[in-house]
Amino acid sequence: MDRILDQDLLPSDEGVERSLRPQSFKEYIGQDKVKEQLQIFIEAAKLRDEALDHVLLFGPPGLGKTTMAFVIANELGVNLKQTSGPAIEKAGDLVAILNDLEPGDVLFIDEIHRMPMAVEEVLYSAMEDFYIDIMIGAGETSRSVHLELPPFTLIGATTRAGMLSNPLRARFGINGHMEYYDLADLREIVERTADIFEASISPEAALELARRSRGTPRIANRLLKRVRDYAQIMGDGQINQEITAQALTLLDVDHEGLDYTDQKILKTMIEVYQGGPVGLGTLAINIAEERETLEDMYEPYLIQKGFIMRTRSGRVATQKAYDHMGYPYLAKGD
Ligand code: ADE
Repeated sequence: MDRILDQDLLPSDEGVERSLRPQSFKEYIGQDKVKEQLQIFIEAAKLRDEALDHVLLFGPPGLGKTTMAFVIANELGVNLKQTSGPAIEKAGDLVAILNDLEPGDVLFIDEIHRMPMAVEEVLYSAMEDFYIDIMIGAGETSRSVHLELPPFTLIGATTRAGMLSNPLRARFGINGHMEYYDLADLREIVERTADIFEASISPEAALELARRSRGTPRIANRLLKRVRDYAQIMGDGQINQEITAQALTLLDVDHEGLDYTDQKILKTMIEVYQGGPVGLGTLAINIAEERETLEDMYEPYLIQKGFIMRTRSGRVATQKAYDHMGYPYLAKGD
């Protein structure tokens, strides 16, 4: 059962992360729209003493979907059982998890788009009417067993809602679209984390980290750890703007927050494909990354920041990409 984690049985590495995790909406910084909606629906569900309707959280990795699921369970005052799409290999695995739920509990399935189809089909009746029909035995002696489930809340997380099948998507009553964080929110997150670490950081340094974290708290917190190391060894432990800038340069994080891979993507598009259009699969092979990683982690931010554009015939590097990477820009057709 090591694939299914109870919230207080997380391995020690996650233990550190968890202490950074906000436990309530009050502590959770940013994602105001999602929070505002959820607060109302949670309050209403509690008033009626019902399970909260199923919630689908979608958005790029590192924006706090798992954290949000834990906060929802906390605010509801129920248990959370956590698993992921790829971890549920057979319908029987899902039956075991569902059978273990208590009324009102939250079942959190990360990467829900990666669940096998046979498992997904079991989920339909569980979500809609809180029952499952399972086949027991094989051949002549096989029979169907009807199993009633307690009302529960499924929280699914996915990097893109478009990757879910229509029948599954239709069974979620609440959709939470997680956005990249703005500078003010990221800065607050950096300052909160520094506070938990008991590290001293100047407001300018916190803003510098926020600026270079690709709108993503997971990246901001990771960079903060490295900057703290750097400040301790190369400085006097105080995290100021200068130390931060030096550390981030050492880490290959540039002024726009683009890391080594982002820069490699832009460079390859410009040098090898004259700015494109180039297909994502081709690009992935060129820079030796998984296509899915490019599509989920790198491309959305590069598009949002205006470094690349998605066109019918492939991805295209914009003038901003040329300027940023220091190449002369010749408009196509010149
Ligand atoms: N740590 C990581 N993400 C956070 C968030 N959204 N709010 C507060 N702390 C966080």
